[in-house]
Amino acid sequence: MSYRRRRLAGKRVIVTGASSGVGRAVALELASRGARVLATARRGDRLEELCRSAAPAAIEPLAGDICEPAFRDRLVAAAVSRLGGLDALIAAAGGGAIGPFRNLTPDTFARIIDLDLTAPAELVRRGLPDLTRGDDPVIVFVGSILGLHPLPLHGEYAAAKAALRSLAGTLRAELAGDGIGVLHVSLGPTESEFWEALVTGERPPWSRGRRMPAAEAARRIADAMEQRRTEITPGWQAMGYALAARFLPWVIDAAASRHLRAAARPGGMAGMNR
Ligand SMILES: NC(=O)c1ccc[n+]([C@@H]2O[C@H](COP(=O)([O-])OP(=O)(O)OC[C@H]3O[C@@H](n4cnc5c(N)ncnc54)[C@H](OP(=O)(O)O)[C@@H]3O)[C@@H](O)[C@H]2O)c1
Repeated sequence: MSYRRRRLAGKRVIVTGASSGVGRAVALELASRGARVLATARRGDRLEELCRSAAPAAIEPLAGDICEPAFRDRLVAAAVSRLGGLDALIAAAGGGAIGPFRNLTPDTFARIIDLDLTAPAELVRRGLPDLTRGDDPVIVFVGSILGLHPLPLHGEYAAAKAALRSLAGTLRAELAGDGIGVLHVSLGPTESEFWEALVTGERPPWSRGRRMPAAEAARRIADAMEQRRTEITPGWQAMGYALAARFLPWVIDAAASRHLRAAARPGGMAGMNR
């Protein structure tokens, strides 16, 4: 294991979820530190705009659906053909669904697990041969504090993020011998389009606090890549939740129950029973 700072300049990087929020901010942050980025998401117009926001040729776009195996193949092949190889994979694409488990459909369950767990896992599997040949390679999984302790109404999402964190732990041990680092990010409330892009349901009241700017989250992720960190929980809100999850999980459960009861009263949260 190396103890020197990882150099981001010149790194050939795939960033998923790059059309908005955290993925977009990470793509810009890495490009500003000299990395060459292949940015992906479904909205190609957003990716074109992202490329124009960075230095010429620092970010290249490739639009597609990360849940499609054939697109994951194309994405890794494009990193090799357009960037000359693959040194870092940032799995930031993700999305949520809100509602009581009993009311959500098997299709919603499958979509969230596919997007938040299967897609990043299979993209890593597909990228591993090239990462193994990469320069001081690293994989970054953008997870959630809900992977540390779940909240009601987020059953699918919290389950996917907990499994993603577990997978990161497995890969970290398995890939250390290949010199591939693995960073898992337990992200707290962050400014993005997450709540507008929900597969189903509405934003619950407990999520309405102050959020970290996506650019700040991106700076912390890039710093953690340079510092060879393996786990980060950016920001005081996320850190507070992580501490409560570890030492006082009943406090989180009691607060969530209180919110649920309030939402169930007449005039409470409209979308909760969808
Ligand atoms: N915001 C928060 O408070 C928060 C908290 C904890 C964790 N996170 C995690 O942070 C990550 C980034 O989310 P965000 O907050 O930045 O939300 P966001 O602004 O909604 O960004 C989600 C990104 O994922 C992409 N995406 C969604 N489905 C896709 C698909 N099938 N194929 C390809 N790309 C897809 C979206 O692009 P297209 O729609 O263009 O495809 C978009 O670029 C997610 O993993 C999320 O779970 C966010």
